[in-house]
Amino acid sequence: MRSLLSKHGLMNKKVSFFLEPRQEAEFIESMSHHETIYSPIGTPLLDRTVGELVAERPGRSRVFQSVAIDFCCQGGRSLREACERKGISPDWVVRQIESELEERSDSAENPANLPITELISHIVLKHHGFLKSELPRLHAMSERVAHVHGEKKPSLIEVFQVFCSIEEELTSHMMKEEEMLFPAMVRFTQGEAFFTSLDGPIFCMIHEHEEVGSLLSRLRELTDSFTPPQEACNTYRALFAGLGDLEEDLHRHIHLENTVLFPAAQAMVAGKSH
Ligand SMILES: [Fe+2]
Ligand SMILES: [Fe+2]
Repeated sequence: MRSLLSKHGLMNKKVSFFLEPRQEAEFIESMSHHETIYSPIGTPLLDRTVGELVAERPGRSRVFQSVAIDFCCQGGRSLREACERKGISPDWVVRQIESELEERSDSAENPANLPITELISHIVLKHHGFLKSELPRLHAMSERVAHVHGEKKPSLIEVFQVFCSIEEELTSHMMKEEEMLFPAMVRFTQGEAFFTSLDGPIFCMIHEHEEVGSLLSRLRELTDSFTPPQEACNTYRALFAGLGDLEEDLHRHIHLENTVLFPAAQAMVAGKSH
């Protein structure tokens, strides 16, 4: 499996939870555009970042997903740049976003507006909870589908291998967030923690999100965008549907952390340590 994954450049590049001074300096430089979530009022839609557009209204993620615009790991790109890179009409995307606004009757609270401690609870309950129930189920299904159909269709064996890498990466990633980073943020909001920066651990989490993002892209390629062939059996179909849902939930989850929670926590720490 390792050689298969390294062939596709997918080997995990582990980084330690704390950084060397040089890495930290590079990270702080790279994070300078994450300090504020939103562009100034009046900024044209096309000049705003796709990350902030989804932070403002999560329903927009459906529009971006429909044209495969990545709003989590590549969320710092302007809508104009994201459309240019995909070769799609910016005006068409703007129209879709505007019609999403008109159609939207769902008044469910936007988690991006929650205070830090409630946002952390939301992420752990909704998104980590989803992964903890889905990963074992998808593991069993992908193992079975690879075993039964892998000989005729070897890409299903790689689907299982890539899935296992995602599962392994996310299991240790969630543990770091739940046992170290998130409690540190909560203690800071309560005035019980004293440190001047969370940049190192946050850099690590963003790096791991990117690793998972690359693995998800590979899964999408291997599964023809999660489309089963006509002759596929029910487990095969359920697996592909489940992998599609996994991608959708992870995109929302990573987006909330990268674009909303992490910049808010960094701003809180920077504000109180001055
Ligand atoms: Fe998370
Ligand atoms: Fe995360």
